[in-house]
Amino acid sequence: MNKITIAIDGYSSTGKSTVAKQLAKALGYIYVDSGAMYRAVTLYAFQNGLISKGDFNKEALIHQLDKIELSFKFNDALGYAEVYLNGENVERKIRTLEISGFVSQVAAVAEVRAKLVVIQKKIGEDKGVVMDGRDIGTVVFPNAELKLFMTASAEKRAQRRYKELKERGDDITYEAVLQNVTERDYIDSHREESPLIKAKDAIEIDNSDLTLEEQFEKILRLVKMTTEGIE
Ligand code: CDP
Ligand code: CDP
Repeated sequence: MNKITIAIDGYSSTGKSTVAKQLAKALGYIYVDSGAMYRAVTLYAFQNGLISKGDFNKEALIHQLDKIELSFKFNDALGYAEVYLNGENVERKIRTLEISGFVSQVAAVAEVRAKLVVIQKKIGEDKGVVMDGRDIGTVVFPNAELKLFMTASAEKRAQRRYKELKERGDDITYEAVLQNVTERDYIDSHREESPLIKAKDAIEIDNSDLTLEEQFEKILRLVKMTTEGIE
Protein backbone atom coordinates (compact mmCIF):
# COMPACT_ATOMS: atom_id res chain seq x y z
CA MET A 1 0.00 0.00 0.00
CA ASN A 2 1.32 3.44 -0.96
CA LYS A 3 2.21 5.62 2.00
CA ILE A 4 0.51 8.97 2.15
CA THR A 5 0.62 12.11 4.28
CA ILE A 6 -2.37 12.64 6.56
CA ALA A 7 -2.98 16.18 7.85
CA ILE A 8 -5.44 16.58 10.73
CA ASP A 9 -6.48 20.08 11.78
CA GLY A 10 -9.29 21.42 13.88
CA TYR A 11 -10.38 23.09 17.06
CA SER A 12 -8.95 22.37 20.47
CA SER A 13 -9.73 18.99 22.06
CA THR A 14 -11.63 17.57 19.09
CA GLY A 15 -9.88 14.21 19.32
CA LYS A 16 -7.21 14.95 16.71
CA SER A 17 -4.28 13.44 18.57
CA THR A 18 -6.26 10.39 19.70
CA VAL A 19 -7.27 9.44 16.18
CA ALA A 20 -3.85 10.38 14.81
CA LYS A 21 -2.18 7.94 17.22
CA GLN A 22 -4.69 5.20 16.34
CA LEU A 23 -4.06 5.71 12.63
CA ALA A 24 -0.28 5.74 13.00
CA LYS A 25 -0.43 2.46 14.91
CA ALA A 26 -2.81 0.77 12.44
CA LEU A 27 -0.89 1.93 9.36
CA GLY A 28 2.69 1.78 10.67
CA TYR A 29 3.04 5.54 10.17
CA ILE A 30 4.93 8.15 12.20
CA TYR A 31 2.68 10.31 14.39
CA VAL A 32 3.68 13.91 15.10
CA ASP A 33 1.81 16.10 17.58
CA SER A 34 2.66 19.59 16.32
CA GLY A 35 0.73 21.18 19.21
CA ALA A 36 3.21 19.55 21.61
CA MET A 37 5.96 21.60 19.97
CA TYR A 38 4.12 24.90 20.55
CA ARG A 39 3.40 23.77 24.08
CA ALA A 40 7.10 22.95 24.67
CA VAL A 41 8.14 26.43 23.48
CA THR A 42 5.57 27.87 25.90
CA LEU A 43 7.05 25.77 28.71
CA TYR A 44 10.50 27.15 27.83
CA ALA A 45 9.07 30.68 28.12
CA PHE A 46 7.70 29.88 31.58
CA GLN A 47 10.89 28.20 32.76
CA ASN A 48 13.02 31.15 31.66
CA GLY A 49 10.89 33.95 33.07
CA LEU A 50 9.58 35.07 29.66
CA ILE A 51 6.04 34.48 30.90
CA SER A 52 5.63 35.86 34.35
CA LYS A 53 2.76 37.35 36.35
CA GLY A 54 0.45 37.06 33.37
CA ASP A 55 2.81 38.85 30.95
CA PHE A 56 4.43 37.30 27.91
CA ASN A 57 7.72 38.87 26.74
CA LYS A 58 7.48 38.11 23.04
CA GLU A 59 10.64 39.96 22.00
CA ALA A 60 12.78 38.08 24.55
CA LEU A 61 11.40 34.76 23.31
CA ILE A 62 12.24 35.67 19.71
CA HIS A 63 15.82 36.44 20.81
CA GLN A 64 16.16 33.12 22.59
CA LEU A 65 14.62 30.90 19.92
CA ASP A 66 17.98 29.42 18.92
CA LYS A 67 18.39 28.12 22.49
CA ILE A 68 15.32 25.93 22.10
CA GLU A 69 15.98 22.43 20.85
CA LEU A 70 12.98 20.18 20.29
CA SER A 71 13.03 16.48 19.49
CA PHE A 72 10.75 13.45 19.55
CA LYS A 73 11.65 10.04 20.93
CA PHE A 74 9.50 6.97 20.40
CA ASN A 75 8.19 5.44 23.61
CA ASP A 76 7.66 1.71 23.06
CA ALA A 77 5.29 1.31 26.01
CA LEU A 78 3.05 4.17 24.89
CA GLY A 79 3.35 3.42 21.19
CA TYR A 80 4.02 7.02 20.15
CA ALA A 81 6.81 9.61 20.23
CA GLU A 82 7.12 11.96 23.19
CA VAL A 83 8.41 15.50 22.97
CA TYR A 84 11.74 16.60 24.47
CA LEU A 85 12.76 20.18 25.26
CA ASN A 86 16.54 20.63 25.39
CA GLY A 87 16.94 16.94 26.22
CA GLU A 88 14.20 16.75 28.88
CA ASN A 89 11.04 14.71 28.40
CA VAL A 90 8.34 17.35 28.90
CA GLU A 91 5.34 15.33 27.74
CA ARG A 92 3.50 15.65 31.06
CA LYS A 93 4.54 19.21 31.93
CA ILE A 94 3.20 20.68 28.68
CA ARG A 95 -0.37 19.43 29.18
CA THR A 96 -1.32 21.67 32.13
CA LEU A 97 -4.01 24.35 31.94
CA GLU A 98 -1.27 26.89 32.80
CA ILE A 99 0.53 26.08 29.53
CA SER A 100 -2.80 25.98 27.66
CA GLY A 101 -3.47 29.50 28.96
CA PHE A 102 -0.52 30.97 27.04
CA VAL A 103 0.19 28.60 24.19
CA SER A 104 -2.03 30.40 21.68
CA GLN A 105 -0.18 33.68 22.28
CA VAL A 106 3.16 31.95 21.76
CA ALA A 107 1.86 30.18 18.66
CA ALA A 108 0.77 33.49 17.15
CA VAL A 109 4.42 34.67 16.95
CA ALA A 110 5.60 34.43 13.33
CA GLU A 111 9.21 33.61 14.28
CA VAL A 112 8.09 30.72 16.49
CA ARG A 113 5.94 29.29 13.69
CA ALA A 114 8.73 29.65 11.13
CA LYS A 115 11.09 27.63 13.32
CA LEU A 116 8.60 24.85 14.06
CA VAL A 117 7.24 24.53 10.53
CA VAL A 118 10.75 23.80 9.22
CA ILE A 119 11.10 20.92 11.70
CA GLN A 120 7.60 19.61 10.89
CA LYS A 121 8.16 19.64 7.12
CA LYS A 122 11.43 17.77 7.58
CA ILE A 123 9.81 15.03 9.69
CA GLY A 124 7.19 14.51 6.98
CA GLU A 125 9.57 14.42 4.02
CA ASP A 126 9.22 10.69 3.43
CA LYS A 127 5.41 10.40 3.73
CA GLY A 128 3.91 7.72 5.98
CA VAL A 129 3.20 10.45 8.48
CA VAL A 130 0.13 11.61 10.32
CA MET A 131 0.42 15.05 11.87
CA ASP A 132 -2.19 17.00 13.80
CA GLY A 133 -2.40 20.70 14.55
CA ARG A 134 -3.94 23.89 13.21
CA ASP A 135 -2.10 24.62 9.96
CA ILE A 136 -1.01 21.18 8.81
CA GLY A 137 -3.25 20.98 5.72
CA THR A 138 -2.84 24.67 4.87
CA VAL A 139 0.85 25.43 5.55
CA VAL A 140 2.93 22.44 6.65
CA PHE A 141 1.67 19.86 4.13
CA PRO A 142 -0.47 21.71 1.57
CA ASN A 143 -0.04 18.70 -0.74
CA ALA A 144 -1.14 16.07 1.78
CA GLU A 145 -3.20 13.36 0.10
CA LEU A 146 -5.73 13.32 2.94
CA LYS A 147 -6.76 16.37 4.95
CA LEU A 148 -9.24 16.24 7.80
CA PHE A 149 -10.82 19.09 9.69
CA MET A 150 -12.25 18.06 13.05
CA THR A 151 -15.00 19.88 14.89
CA ALA A 152 -17.31 19.27 17.85
CA SER A 153 -19.35 21.53 20.10
CA ALA A 154 -17.29 23.56 22.58
CA GLU A 155 -19.19 22.04 25.52
CA LYS A 156 -18.52 18.47 24.37
CA ARG A 157 -14.85 19.24 23.89
CA ALA A 158 -14.51 20.94 27.27
CA GLN A 159 -16.23 17.98 28.97
CA ARG A 160 -13.83 15.55 27.35
CA ARG A 161 -10.73 17.60 28.20
CA TYR A 162 -11.95 18.22 31.77
CA LYS A 163 -12.42 14.49 32.31
CA GLU A 164 -8.94 13.79 30.98
CA LEU A 165 -7.24 16.40 33.21
CA LYS A 166 -9.22 15.31 36.28
CA GLU A 167 -8.21 11.69 35.68
CA ARG A 168 -4.53 12.63 35.70
CA GLY A 169 -5.04 14.49 38.99
CA ASP A 170 -5.04 18.16 37.89
CA ASP A 171 -6.90 20.59 40.15
CA ILE A 172 -9.19 22.35 37.66
CA THR A 173 -12.83 23.23 37.05
CA TYR A 174 -15.01 22.49 34.03
CA GLU A 175 -15.66 26.24 33.62
CA ALA A 176 -11.93 27.02 33.43
CA VAL A 177 -11.43 24.34 30.77
CA LEU A 178 -14.40 25.58 28.73
CA GLN A 179 -13.09 29.13 28.91
CA ASN A 180 -9.61 28.04 27.79
CA VAL A 181 -10.94 25.96 24.90
CA THR A 182 -13.11 28.86 23.68
CA GLU A 183 -10.36 31.45 24.06
CA ARG A 184 -7.80 29.35 22.22
CA ASP A 185 -10.21 28.65 19.37
CA TYR A 186 -10.75 32.39 19.01
CA ILE A 187 -7.06 33.35 19.06
CA ASP A 188 -6.05 30.43 16.81
CA SER A 189 -8.72 31.31 14.22
CA HIS A 190 -8.13 35.06 14.22
CA ARG A 191 -4.33 35.38 14.29
CA GLU A 192 -2.55 36.92 11.32
CA GLU A 193 0.03 34.14 10.94
CA SER A 194 -1.34 30.80 9.65
CA PRO A 195 -4.77 31.05 11.28
CA LEU A 196 -6.81 27.92 11.88
CA ILE A 197 -8.97 27.56 8.79
CA LYS A 198 -10.32 24.56 6.95
CA ALA A 199 -8.24 23.86 3.85
CA LYS A 200 -10.39 23.91 0.70
CA ASP A 201 -9.76 20.22 0.08
CA ALA A 202 -10.19 19.07 3.70
CA ILE A 203 -12.97 16.74 4.78
CA GLU A 204 -14.86 18.05 7.79
CA ILE A 205 -15.70 15.60 10.56
CA ASP A 206 -17.99 16.65 13.39
CA ASN A 207 -17.47 14.08 16.13
CA SER A 208 -19.80 15.59 18.76
CA ASP A 209 -21.80 12.36 18.68
CA LEU A 210 -19.13 9.89 17.63
CA THR A 211 -17.32 7.55 20.01
CA LEU A 212 -13.57 7.13 19.63
CA GLU A 213 -14.15 3.81 17.85
CA GLU A 214 -16.73 5.24 15.44
CA GLN A 215 -14.49 8.17 14.62
CA PHE A 216 -11.51 5.89 14.03
CA GLU A 217 -13.45 3.53 11.74
CA LYS A 218 -14.82 6.42 9.71
CA ILE A 219 -11.39 7.99 9.23
CA LEU A 220 -9.67 4.67 8.52
CA ARG A 221 -12.17 4.14 5.68
CA LEU A 222 -11.21 7.55 4.27
CA VAL A 223 -7.52 6.62 4.45
CA LYS A 224 -8.16 3.36 2.59
CA MET A 225 -10.18 5.11 -0.10
CA THR A 226 -7.40 7.69 -0.51
CA THR A 227 -4.55 5.18 -0.74
CA GLU A 228 -6.51 2.95 -3.14
CA GLY A 229 -7.29 6.02 -5.24
CA ILE A 230 -3.62 6.75 -5.86
CA GLU A 231 -2.42 3.18 -6.46
O1 CDP B 1 -4.64 19.34 22.19
P1 CDP B 1 -5.23 20.71 22.05
O2 CDP B 1 -6.25 20.77 20.98
O3 CDP B 1 -5.68 21.31 23.31
O4 CDP B 1 -4.08 21.67 21.54
P2 CDP B 1 -2.71 21.32 20.87
O5 CDP B 1 -2.91 20.57 19.61
O6 CDP B 1 -1.84 20.73 21.92
O7 CDP B 1 -2.20 22.76 20.48
C1 CDP B 1 -1.95 23.75 21.47
C2 CDP B 1 -1.94 25.11 20.80
O8 CDP B 1 -0.81 25.17 19.93
C3 CDP B 1 -3.14 25.46 19.94
O9 CDP B 1 -4.22 26.02 20.68
C4 CDP B 1 -2.53 26.47 18.97
O10 CDP B 1 -2.46 27.75 19.56
C5 CDP B 1 -1.10 25.97 18.80
N1 CDP B 1 -0.89 25.20 17.58
C6 CDP B 1 -0.70 25.89 16.39
O11 CDP B 1 -0.80 27.12 16.37
N2 CDP B 1 -0.39 25.24 15.25
C7 CDP B 1 -0.29 23.90 15.24
N3 CDP B 1 0.04 23.28 14.11
C8 CDP B 1 -0.51 23.16 16.43
C9 CDP B 1 -0.83 23.84 17.58
O1 CDP C 1 -5.77 16.37 20.04
P1 CDP C 1 -7.03 17.07 20.42
O2 CDP C 1 -6.80 18.19 21.35
O3 CDP C 1 -7.86 17.49 19.25
O4 CDP C 1 -7.95 16.04 21.19
P2 CDP C 1 -7.58 14.70 21.98
O5 CDP C 1 -6.57 14.98 23.02
O6 CDP C 1 -7.32 13.60 21.02
O7 CDP C 1 -9.00 14.39 22.64
C1 CDP C 1 -9.48 15.13 23.75
C2 CDP C 1 -10.28 14.18 24.64
O8 CDP C 1 -11.52 13.90 24.01
C3 CDP C 1 -9.58 12.86 24.88
O9 CDP C 1 -9.74 12.51 26.24
C4 CDP C 1 -10.35 11.89 23.99
O10 CDP C 1 -10.37 10.58 24.48
C5 CDP C 1 -11.76 12.50 24.01
N1 CDP C 1 -12.60 12.19 22.82
C6 CDP C 1 -13.75 11.43 22.95
O11 CDP C 1 -14.06 11.03 24.08
N2 CDP C 1 -14.52 11.12 21.87
C7 CDP C 1 -14.21 11.57 20.64
N3 CDP C 1 -14.96 11.26 19.59
C8 CDP C 1 -13.04 12.35 20.48
C9 CDP C 1 -12.26 12.64 21.59
